Amino acid sequence: MLSNQELILAIESSCDDTAAAVLKGRKVLSNCIANQTIHKAYGGVVPELASRAHQSKIIPVVQQALAHANIDKNDLTAIAYTQGPGLLGSLLVGGAFAKSFALSLNLPLIPINHMQGHLLVHFIEEEGIEAPKFPFLGVTVSGGHTQLVLVKNHFNMEVLGTTLDDAIGEAFDKCGKRMGLEYPSGPQIDKLAQKGDPTKFRFPIPNMKGFDVSYSGVKTAFTNFIHKQTQNDGNYISKNLNDLCASLQYTLVQIILKKIEQVTQTQQLNQIVIGGGVAANSELRKQLLTSEKSHQWKVFLPPLKYTTDNAAMIGIAAYYKILNKQFGRLTDPSLSRLNY
Ligand code: KG4
Ligand code: ZN
Repeated sequence: MLSNQELILAIESSCDDTAAAVLKGRKVLSNCIANQTIHKAYGGVVPELASRAHQSKIIPVVQQALAHANIDKNDLTAIAYTQGPGLLGSLLVGGAFAKSFALSLNLPLIPINHMQGHLLVHFIEEEGIEAPKFPFLGVTVSGGHTQLVLVKNHFNMEVLGTTLDDAIGEAFDKCGKRMGLEYPSGPQIDKLAQKGDPTKFRFPIPNMKGFDVSYSGVKTAFTNFIHKQTQNDGNYISKNLNDLCASLQYTLVQIILKKIEQVTQTQQLNQIVIGGGVAANSELRKQLLTSEKSHQWKVFLPPLKYTTDNAAMIGIAAYYKILNKQFGRLTDPSLSRLNY
């Protein structure tokens, strides 16, 4: 079969989004996501609830993805799923479904690394998406990861730097929770920050050695600051919400931006490819585009629909696995930790 004729059903269930997509070659025919709202009441993802919700949502989401793509399941040529990293109970639901479906349809099965998927969305064939050339600097910014990755080809990726504690998305979410915002608070902070002053409050930017970053220091500084201020004034947060969001966001973005600058200077990489949920952040996008001019970078920002977890990213990674003839087995385990 010609690779551009492959009809791939892709399933993503690594955290709290149940997602399914159908790709024809590198083109996305459908990209469906069922968000799990149950976690809002707990201020974060509850793993046990996430895996239960995946169980009830996975079949409707797959049916929806096939219907939107106008594809019969018997026309599919491969089934892809997220093997890891992620929450084990969540991964197991998507993995078990994919394996059963592949077995019943007698189709090849393709396990995918979620983090590789976040970077490979830039290879989807679609208006507005331009593929980078190898090698490039991949930057994954999500709720679980913050990594600077040397991408040598589709599946040869070397982590140059990573967070030593919290991920950038986690810092957004935890600081947001401290301000009383709903989970996930990254998108709300982004929105409120538009009306705030990013220079109103200063939070520390850690000076880490090498290419690693740290987000726990700014989170602690922010939490302590809020604690102190609310002791004097119970309405401090609501009175300063926009400025707090803008200043916090500015700091979180500067931390990763400074590392990107450092890596590009020493590694002679000038293509910066961003992936992950925080790639939707408007301040990060704006700062990267400003730096693109001053540093002579070429910055690749994913369309918003491919930033937070989705199954199209798993499908495009599967497309390249098929090209390389790399298939999985029914006995492959789901893995909560998985390196590039
Ligand atoms: O990639 P993703 O969907 O899941 C993981 O693999 O972790 O990323 C989710 C993270 C959450 O922390 C969420 O708050 C953050 O992405 N996020 C944002 C924005 N949109 C999503 N953070 C800041 N600004 C945004 N606009
Ligand atoms: Zn993700």
